[in-house]
Order: sequence, then structure tokens, then C-alpha cells
Amino acid sequence: MSYANDLFLRAARGEQVERPPVWLMRQAGRILPQYRALRAKLSGFKELVSTPDLAAEVTIQPVDELDVDVAIIFSDILVIPEALGLDYNMVEKVGPRFPKTIKSKADIEALRPAEDAPGHLRYVFDALDVTKRELNNRVPLIGFAGAPWTIFAYMVEGGGSKTFSKARAMLYRDPATSHLLLEKIARATAAYLKEKVRHGADLIQLFDSWAGVLPPAHYREFSLRYIRMICEELSEVPVTVFAKDARHALPELGQLPCQVIQLDWIADPVLARSQVQSDKVLQGNLDPVQLYAPEEEIIAATKKMIGAYGDRHIVNLGHGVYPDTPLDGVKAFVNTVKAHRY
Ligand code: CP3
Repeated sequence: MSYANDLFLRAARGEQVERPPVWLMRQAGRILPQYRALRAKLSGFKELVSTPDLAAEVTIQPVDELDVDVAIIFSDILVIPEALGLDYNMVEKVGPRFPKTIKSKADIEALRPAEDAPGHLRYVFDALDVTKRELNNRVPLIGFAGAPWTIFAYMVEGGGSKTFSKARAMLYRDPATSHLLLEKIARATAAYLKEKVRHGADLIQLFDSWAGVLPPAHYREFSLRYIRMICEELSEVPVTVFAKDARHALPELGQLPCQVIQLDWIADPVLARSQVQSDKVLQGNLDPVQLYAPEEEIIAATKKMIGAYGDRHIVNLGHGVYPDTPLDGVKAFVNTVKAHRY
């Protein structure tokens, strides 16, 4: 597949490039007035996620408005629990809530088999098909999923949490049952992501948003090994792993069979570079709150960050862009990267 702009893919493969590519996690979302306008006409977030033409439209909005180097398919990590039979509601100003949660081995056995999950995610694959057609090879397309631990955390906890103490308690009380659920999620996720690749995803990013609540030994046992499983199954495309707030694990993340490691904004790129395998590409990691500063400061901070990384860098924030970020700040960030030359 050849793209009018293939900078992102060349950089993700570790090739020498003329400048770092740039995109933002959560670029398709509430920072864009055209997203907010479309969203206001709908019954809710899930209608947008489950309607392929609309999901494709918002996927392409940031490519049109911001001229970023890659699109990310509009969806959510929570489509996996739903496909396994655990439904969620997206509650306005609260976040995701699961009316039923996983408490026991019987609850896990009552879920659908992992291999049936992709059959319940047709709407995502349709959204990829429409997006690929409408993008018309302008830029590549990222597919994504939650890492198994992060999905487990939502399925056991029932929603977001500061501590995820219910989810973490299951790891201590019943490690065997925990592994049963993690493995089921990992198998469903791998099957789902392979199908995304078949429908045109050029790179896969795994979001381990709640990596940071686990102590290192638990991170290794209950998260990393399942991330590795998924990476091993996705050998046809580059993979990016984002273990938010798990900088202690960088040496191990840096040995995964993946191409790109996303850093959170607390990470020091120079230190991170010394901790991961030398062929890894690093993605990140401007503080999302930096984009609320005056434009000249955003420009200076972005240039300074690019300097700190050196080559093998994809520019992004250290987490998803916050919904109330001034659009001019976002544009200052993107345009600074686009004007840069190594
Ligand atoms: O542009 C993109 O990055 C693609 C779309 C995308 C969404 N969610 C859309 C979305 C991606 C990659 C995600 C991933 C996701 N979803 C993560 C991992 C990344 C991270 O933030 O750590 C997590 C933890 C979720 C779960 C989730 N989805 C939460 C906690 C929430 C509520 C918080 C919020 O921002 O409102 C969502 C909803 C959600 N997912 C929105 C968007 C654009 C807000 C939707 C709206 O109300 O219009």
C-alpha cells in the first residue's frame, strides 16, 4: 500500500526520515468543533462508535483540520468487553459504567468464547473499510485495542477508579481465575486486531492505561505477558505499546516484539532511550497541559522535546489530548513539528 504521506509508517519501521511524524492520541474527539457538532446530533457516544459512516467521518476530521500524519480509527477500547457479552454505558461527564461486573469463574464462563468476539465487532471492521475508502491513501490508519490488564480492570471494577482495588484484589485472592479472564481477553483482542489488520489497519497501538496501578511483579505476571502474546500474533504490522505510568517496566517493554514504545509525559526521553532496545522507536511525550500555554511557549517546548529524542521519534503527547484544549494550541504543536527538519 502506498500513501501520499507515508512518513508515519517509515518512522514506525525505524527508517531515517526527514522530520518526525506527528499525531495526537484522542485527536478524533471533542477538541474539534466539527466533532462536537456531529456528536450533539446523536443519542450518545455509542451511536457514533457503532455507525460506520459516522465513525469514519470523525476519524478523518483531524486529518482535514490538523493535517496530522496518520489517522486513528474512531472507536473505543471497551468494544472488547461488550463483544464478550459484558455491556457498558458511556455516562456523560462520568465515563464508562458496567451494570454487571466479573466476580467469579462462573461469570467468566458465562461470557462468549474469545473466538466469537470478532463476529460481534463487524461495525468496527465496516468503519475501517469506509475510512480506508474515504482517506483514499492520503495517510496510513492506526488500529488499536486496550491491553488485557486495562480491559480486565474495567470488567472487574465496573468503571474507572483511582485505585482499581476491586480489580487488583482479584489478582491477590484468585490469581488462577484472573489469568483465565486475562487470557480470554488476550485471545479475543488478538483475533480482533488481526481482523483490523485485514481491514486495512497499518499499525496497531495497545493502550495499557491502568498499567500504573500494578506493582512491578504483578505488572510482569498479569500484564506484560499478555501484551507479549498479542505482539507475537501481530507480526504483519508494526505495533506500539503504551504502558501509562509504568516507567519501571521500560527495560522489559523495550524487549517486546514490537516496534514503537509510547512514553507518558512524566518519562524522560533520554533515560527511556537508554532503557529500551536500540532499534525501538519512541513515541511521545509532550505534557498535554503544555498545550494550554501561550503559543510561543508551545513552540519552544515542542522543539526542545524533538531535540531531546534525536532520531527514531514519533511526536505525540504523553496522554490523550484533553477535550477543552484550545485548538490553536494543538495547531501550534502540530505545525511546529511539520516545519522541523532533522
Ligand atoms: O482519536 C482517538 O484517539 C481515537 C479514539 C479513541 C477513543 N477512546 C474515543 C473516545 C481511543 C484511542 C480511545 C481509547 C480509550 N478509551 C482509552 C485508552 C487511552 C487513555 O485515555 O488512556 C481508555 C482508557 C478508554 C475508555 C474511555 N472511553 C473513557 C474512560 C472514556 C470517558 C472519558 C472521556 O474522555 O469522556 C471514554 C469515552 C471516549 N472515547 C470519548 C472519545 C472521543 C469521549 C466521547 C464523547 O463523549 O464524545
